[in-house]
Amino acid sequence: MVLWAWARLIFNFCFFLISLNSETKYYLCTVENIGKDIGLAEKYLREGKCVGIPTETVYGLAANAFDSVAVASVFRIKNRPSFDPLILHVDSLEKVKSLISYFPPKAQLLATNFWPGPLTMVLPKASHVPYDVTSGLETVGVRIPSHPLTLELLSKLDFPLAAPSANPFGYVSPTSAQHVADSLGDKPAYILDGGSCERGIESTIIGFEGDEPVLYRLGSLAVTEIEEVVGPIQRKLNTSSNPQAPGQLKMHYAPKVKLLNISVEEALKTYASDRIGQISLQESSAKLLNKNCLVLSQSGDLYEAAHNLFASLRKLDSLDVDVAVFEYLEDKGIGAAINDRLRRASAKSH
Ligand code: TXA
Ligand code: MG
Repeated sequence: MVLWAWARLIFNFCFFLISLNSETKYYLCTVENIGKDIGLAEKYLREGKCVGIPTETVYGLAANAFDSVAVASVFRIKNRPSFDPLILHVDSLEKVKSLISYFPPKAQLLATNFWPGPLTMVLPKASHVPYDVTSGLETVGVRIPSHPLTLELLSKLDFPLAAPSANPFGYVSPTSAQHVADSLGDKPAYILDGGSCERGIESTIIGFEGDEPVLYRLGSLAVTEIEEVVGPIQRKLNTSSNPQAPGQLKMHYAPKVKLLNISVEEALKTYASDRIGQISLQESSAKLLNKNCLVLSQSGDLYEAAHNLFASLRKLDSLDVDVAVFEYLEDKGIGAAINDRLRRASAKSH
């Protein structure tokens, strides 16, 4: 009898130790999920797992573009519809050339001027680029990002990384490793921590009609800079009706809080002042003198505002407010891309 009691006591103690250990392991696993270990990121990618990677624009959720199971898990983790194609990331022009079947002269000019950098070009794909990456299209989106950690990672790989922004489909894109973990938890095998993204808004996307460049998505690279190199370009920014850019949905980049393009004065007619949040370009346009007013750049610098935009949209969701308001910036340079993201972020609220 006494022996039996002792056996149970020992068994229970061992069980307690095991459960303690597994909790510890889970905790360690989530903490170790974020780090700066390029070798570990490389190992997981070679094993067909998904890894969060930093770029100068936003964080991507990356997988081996030639591994259909890995690519399928990118779509699954993001809850992304299969009709929305992925961008391929590589570290050199030679690798870009291996993924496309035609390189228009103006595309070569843009590549020389802006890669590595926040420009994606949609070009006719090489026959071995899989259709699950391009969502059945004959074109492929390619880009050489400029973040040093990711460039080093890409240089070690003999396959391109298919990487959409590392957010659940429709939600605000992540501009820090912590944002990726906040939204996707430990679904990526690893998140390579490259600090907060310098540009803060996704790459500008240029497609081609014949040899002529066409703007598909406003982004971190101002259109004026592109036009200085290749002359005036056509805009084809229409939303879900545009078959050239299936991902350009009207509602996107949206925080959970109701976001409205109205003035604070207008909002005060319906909501109490402590229930209103504000996204303000600069200190001088801040109307709410409390923690609910998020200033994008004290001095009104548009690049600093772009850098802070998505972190501020995410922060709105942690404030205890009923509504958040904003006013559009002047539609000039990078201001046009900021306005585009604000327009999409507020689309469902109207
Ligand atoms: O800055 C960026 O571009 C980030 C970083 C991670 O590189 N990536 C990014 O990926 O924003 P994603 O998937 O969130 O947006 C890519 C957009 C989608 O709207 C998609 O429809 C479009 O690029 N796209 C990709 N391939 C395309 C293609 N072949 N034709 C037309 N549009 C394409
Ligand atoms: Mg995205």
